[in-house]
Amino acid sequence: MSTVISRLRRVLRKASDVVPGRFDLDTALSDLRQERDSSPVPHEVNQRMNAMELEAGREELLSYPIYMAMNLIGVCNARCRFCFYGDDIIDKSVLKLEDIQRMPWLRFVSTLDLFGGLGEPLLLPDFPDIVEWLHEQNPAQTLLTTSNGAFLASPVAGRLAGKLSNLNISLNAATRATYEHLMLNCSWDRVMKNLQEFQEINQATTRPTRLSFSYVATRSNIEELPKLAEVAKDLGVASVGISHFSLGGVWAKRKEPRLSMDESLYFHQNLSDECIRKAEAAFAKAKVSFSHPELFSRETEIHLGTRVPRNSANGPDCPSPWQTAYINPHKQSRWVSCCCSVNAMHQDMTPLDLEDTDFMRTWNSPVFRLMRRGVNEHPCRLINCAFCRSHDKSAPDSAAPQLEMMIKATEQYHDLLGQQPSDAVIKEKCECEHRIGELQSGIKSL
Ligand SMILES: C[S@@+](CC[C@H](N)C(=O)[O-])C[C@H]1O[C@@H](n2cnc3c(N)ncnc32)[C@H](O)[C@@H]1O
Ligand code: SF4
Ligand code: SF4
Repeated sequence: MSTVISRLRRVLRKASDVVPGRFDLDTALSDLRQERDSSPVPHEVNQRMNAMELEAGREELLSYPIYMAMNLIGVCNARCRFCFYGDDIIDKSVLKLEDIQRMPWLRFVSTLDLFGGLGEPLLLPDFPDIVEWLHEQNPAQTLLTTSNGAFLASPVAGRLAGKLSNLNISLNAATRATYEHLMLNCSWDRVMKNLQEFQEINQATTRPTRLSFSYVATRSNIEELPKLAEVAKDLGVASVGISHFSLGGVWAKRKEPRLSMDESLYFHQNLSDECIRKAEAAFAKAKVSFSHPELFSRETEIHLGTRVPRNSANGPDCPSPWQTAYINPHKQSRWVSCCCSVNAMHQDMTPLDLEDTDFMRTWNSPVFRLMRRGVNEHPCRLINCAFCRSHDKSAPDSAAPQLEMMIKATEQYHDLLGQQPSDAVIKEKCECEHRIGELQSGIKSL
């Protein structure tokens, strides 16, 4: 009861900052909605609305998500050994400038990440046009993308520099040999040249794009991680973030050549911790910001699918169903989810109609309302959310259980909403069952 009262107080306090005097949430939201439409910073007004709706635990929202990731293209030039992209799963459908122009509400989103799955954004012919158009709609919006950098050469570099807020390059290595071993069809010299050229143009803009590197850490590249500090410094890269190699994807779909499961650093914990400590010192010396998953030697607990230092998690609440949307653009089945644990098997429940100019129909569809109702219940009855609170999703031994969970969670959502799964969902389920078998036999053979 006291939690309810303190929550209510928080809502009232926040809301009274917005509308002095007697507070009524509906009136405040409706006033803000009007203000949002004509504001020069509509995402800021939307963010205030979103905070109020989250605090109040509303199921039906007037605010748009504050973070949105949108995958614009399902095709890639590369064949990274750790990625599950492969010839058999290429989806040739792409989003075009005209599709994006049908979504004027995108300006309400605080952070728009022009990536959200597999594919190489800079391969998309309309990519520079899309970035320029979005930047024009709301120059203060945070616009991000992640790329392998192969197509960053001029004139693309000049059109993106200063308009993207952050450009992340998936580098995944610190030497030519490892880079070209891991990222098949990619050239180290080409990406280095592109980055140098990009920075020359970028540094001359009024608001230079921030450059970052990401690194999928594996047994093959962990020992050279400290060397990346100098590479990053020389190129004016602001930050480097590493993540663990996730097996679920690659062993789900990717055909050879793929990395073997024992490339996961969960099987090389001491070495991983030692290399990350050395890298921390090297990045500090180079004055490049560096982030990494928790060291294996640390005492941790699980918070929303990842290991965090024990007693550091700031409560079990998850804001994703209010704040986050991932848009999958595939032609046959465009759908929206609020996190990667609510996956393709939901596609029939959250379809995105690009002809529908109001995203709100999807954002407030029964499955999103159900998630907002159930995600922070204690104990949590939603199978996917309960899993997320008890499993380290990067751990190899979570990969098969995660796929099993996704099948059960999908059945649960269909049951709770009284819906029958579509043919596409039934097909996805069969593929998932096959992948579970592959993962289990792969892990057993180690
Ligand atoms: C799938 S890619 C799409 C964008 C672009 N092609 C790129 O590589 O930057 C998005 C990110 O996922 C990462 N990634 C791919 N496979 C992964 C895996 N098995 N585990 C963890 N991260 C992975 C990539 O390194 C990249 O940073
Ligand atoms: S990680 Fe990116 S660049 Fe590499 S194959 Fe996957 S989608 Fe392509
Ligand atoms: S699975 Fe549930 S708890 Fe986990 S991030 Fe998604 S919505 Fe949040």
